[in-house]
Amino acid sequence: MIATEVTAVLALGSIALFVIGLKRLSRVRTARSGNALMAAGMLLAILITLLEIGLVDYRWIAGGLLIGGGIGYAIVARAQATQMPEIVARFNGFGGASSALVALSLFWAEVVEAAGGATAAATLGAASAGTLVLSVLIGAVTLSGSVLAELKLRGTLSGTPRIPIRGPLMGLLVLGGAALGGVAAFAIEDAFVAAGLVIGLVVASALVGIVLVVPIGGADMPVVISLLNSLSGLAAAATGFALGNELLIIAGTIVGAAGLILTQIMCVAMNRSLVNVLIGGFSGGAAEHGEYGHVVSADPESAAMVLEAAQTVIIVPGYGLAAARAQNAVHELAKALERQGSQVRFAIHPVAGRMPGHMNVVLAEAEVPYEMLREMSEINQDFAETDVVVVVGANDVVNPAARTEPGSPIAGMPILDVGNARRVFVIKRSLSPGYAGIKNSLFEQENTVMLYGDAKVVLDQLAGELAANA
Ligand code: TAP
Repeated sequence: MIATEVTAVLALGSIALFVIGLKRLSRVRTARSGNALMAAGMLLAILITLLEIGLVDYRWIAGGLLIGGGIGYAIVARAQATQMPEIVARFNGFGGASSALVALSLFWAEVVEAAGGATAAATLGAASAGTLVLSVLIGAVTLSGSVLAELKLRGTLSGTPRIPIRGPLMGLLVLGGAALGGVAAFAIEDAFVAAGLVIGLVVASALVGIVLVVPIGGADMPVVISLLNSLSGLAAAATGFALGNELLIIAGTIVGAAGLILTQIMCVAMNRSLVNVLIGGFSGGAAEHGEYGHVVSADPESAAMVLEAAQTVIIVPGYGLAAARAQNAVHELAKALERQGSQVRFAIHPVAGRMPGHMNVVLAEAEVPYEMLREMSEINQDFAETDVVVVVGANDVVNPAARTEPGSPIAGMPILDVGNARRVFVIKRSLSPGYAGIKNSLFEQENTVMLYGDAKVVLDQLAGELAANA
């Protein structure tokens, strides 16, 4: 009895750690401690589970912890910050797989091994059996969808292969079949036929994940990954119901809800609907250069002379900064500008880059102080009073077409008003479009000067010029 009360109190503590940690993750400044709190919550949850199951052979558990922990460490230790979306995809897949495996082992132990001629629904109870089917189904969808998402992000699979039927429709058809097979498995008395049907459920569910993710463009993968993250939480919650484990239900629901909210935030920031993303309506990366009128370019030496006279500078990082791994170079430039007395800030657009918080992660890797970072809503009105804006590998997030062209793919997307500044330097390799594949009239503006080249090379040259003239 006392043990039950102790575990209940500890479980509450663990849930509180999850909720407070999640709240702290929503701000850059508190995100690190939020992450640590959530990890502590998870450790506590594991300890509670061990306490609840009592005296068992801990060698399997220790072995699992060592192998799983070792694999996790090996994956993350070698990873670059720019590979973070792929890693998140892989971990989502692991989450879905483990929920499905726990549900399958429950089915095996309770129904197949202890087969007494009763249906699985009668052995487990209808509610438990139903959530078990859901757990296997959602878990397998998450696993296969995440594997595909990772391959697409890496570029191993092409962005938008053509398939005859749109993903969601075909996905729904297979999903219907999988669900029917699952229900049948739990209503059949022969345990081994039921086991065969459950294997069919796993295969069909994995197919659903593949069919759903295949038509979606590679550049939309971050939204898909966040949706899969939500699914991995729902799979865990369903497993929690099947096992009668409240902690798993709550933790899974938190992950499910957080993933769904993040998906919604990303869709709003890109001015797209989730349905539009899921039907693959936007593949991204189209190679239309558009016709440009008069575009002015300069070399880093003359740009450095303008920067030397600037009292206020705003740096706008975009996907190209991450692609060029120029985070340290941009920090060096910011430091050189500060040394000469300029006020320097970074303007962060919510969907700059290719994943939520991409710019924050990349700049944090180079130890750019949080105090220098400003969110779009905080800084947008300051551009008009700014001497120089340096746009580093950003394109769509500074494209005025979002405001001026109602038919544009980015129409309605909030943008950083960099064009209002006295002088705008745009560092990129060419006039090629960004993710949305469209022309950017900012490049033709009178106050804009293009600095063509790889972001890291140009930033190094700018910082070198400033240092030489200091
Ligand atoms: P983009 O519009 O994609 O533009 C990036 C630019 O970086 C390109 O025009 C490219 O021009 C340049 N670039 C690439 N490699 C470079 C290098 N080595 N050195 C210098 N420049 C380089 O990026 P953005 O402004 O960050 O906008 C992000 C876009 O992605 C938005 O449309 C957003 O909706 C979309 N998206 C974002 C997310 C999230 S959550 N962040 C998720 C899905 C989609 P050059 O080739 O000429 O160099």
